[in-house]
Amino acid sequence: MPSLGRHRQTKIYADGLLGRRPAVPTAPAALEAAAKKKLDASSAAYFLGGAGAERTMAENRAAFDRYPIVQRMLRNVSSRDLSIELFGRTLPLPFLLGPIGVLEMAHREADLAAARAASAAGIGFVTSNQASYPMEAVADAVGSGPRWFQLYWSARDELVESFLDRAERYGYEAIVVTLDTTELGWRCRDLDLGYLPFLRGRGIANYLSDPVFQRLSVADEEIGPLPRPRLGAVASLAEFLGSQRKWSRAAAPMGPKKLADSIRRFLAIYSRTDLSWDKLAALREKTRLPIVLKGILHPDDARRALDCGVDGLVVSNHGGRQVDGAAAALDQLPLVADAVESRVPVLFDSGIRTGADIVKALGLGATAVLIGRPYICGLALAGEAGVRAVIDNLAADLDLTLGLSGRRSVGELDRSIFAGSPSKAA
Ligand SMILES: Cc1cc2nc3c(=O)[nH]c(=O)nc-3n(C[C@H](O)[C@H](O)[C@H](O)COP(=O)(O)O)c2cc1C
Repeated sequence: MPSLGRHRQTKIYADGLLGRRPAVPTAPAALEAAAKKKLDASSAAYFLGGAGAERTMAENRAAFDRYPIVQRMLRNVSSRDLSIELFGRTLPLPFLLGPIGVLEMAHREADLAAARAASAAGIGFVTSNQASYPMEAVADAVGSGPRWFQLYWSARDELVESFLDRAERYGYEAIVVTLDTTELGWRCRDLDLGYLPFLRGRGIANYLSDPVFQRLSVADEEIGPLPRPRLGAVASLAEFLGSQRKWSRAAAPMGPKKLADSIRRFLAIYSRTDLSWDKLAALREKTRLPIVLKGILHPDDARRALDCGVDGLVVSNHGGRQVDGAAAALDQLPLVADAVESRVPVLFDSGIRTGADIVKALGLGATAVLIGRPYICGLALAGEAGVRAVIDNLAADLDLTLGLSGRRSVGELDRSIFAGSPSKAA
């Protein structure tokens, strides 16, 4: 029986004999370049950009070069196990699709297509708070597969409670609370195009479909300045009306005025800068689901999170979209893992592009990783099949890298994978 990696490899080479090349490139740079070509300028900026001069994005990638793998030989790696245990589930692969907002800018079927691809591969899907379809529709697309809900903590607690309640009712198995986005970072590519998708009715499906949101009253002074869409701005008006058409086909039809009012209400309540550690206890009481904090980078914050009784952490700097000139997430991972001492799962994202990257993150203490931009690119190129191709390619690359490094299972990965090199990790 060929290994998972060899099976995928052979299929691609066999297709090549028939004159077919992969529609979704396997090389990370080619994947991103192909997606960039397919996306319009605003979508490419939104998906591929970061904060400020994008030094954090670059640093996230550069950090992987600081941890060279040193392969071991003659260890009989003929059978390999890529599975992990996470919150009571056995998952076939040590990665999930992370939360990504506004996927409708990559593909019409957005989260639904990505969720179906994850589910078919048996891996977890994290539904974004800023999804393009309501979390109930995404849950249906996932079917019986593992799904988590990512929460942005709104300025209105009653809305947070409603989101949690919906997530519990629709079979979400964990709540990922993203802490690093109390406000949007200074994202120059988006700013220079004057483009924020939410203002055009995109990526706010969970709000528009929420009964509490629909009833929320927001004082005029909480609502920032926002012009009404008008004929002069043809492109943005068309986009706005496209969103409105989408919503008028949904369960709660919505005319242009209602949508414009909802967008203004969303802007007033979506971000929250007054969050502090004491609020976590309240969250703990509001849900029976495991709580996973996303955006932890400092070991002291990790210890504090454990004191608050959280069930898991994600070491992440949001793919460099929030703070420019920040530490690479990968460099912080071993510090956080050491602070946590295996008491809860530590997940990781920000820069994962290859199987070797996954091996390195697991070697530095991650239980699993979240995939971000690569799956957006797959979605942009070929919808559900494109996301599936990205998943299968990563799995194959991981499997081969693991075996070729002299390891049989992801459970064996620890810092010894770097031992024997002169790097700081050895
Ligand atoms: C276009 C885009 C949208 C994102 N939306 C969300 C989101 O809605 N919620 C969230 O917690 N993280 C969001 N993230 C962050 C990702 O979950 C993840 O942390 C990041 O993509 C990791 O970086 P990488 O894609 O470079 O590996 C987003 C990232 C991107 C690129």
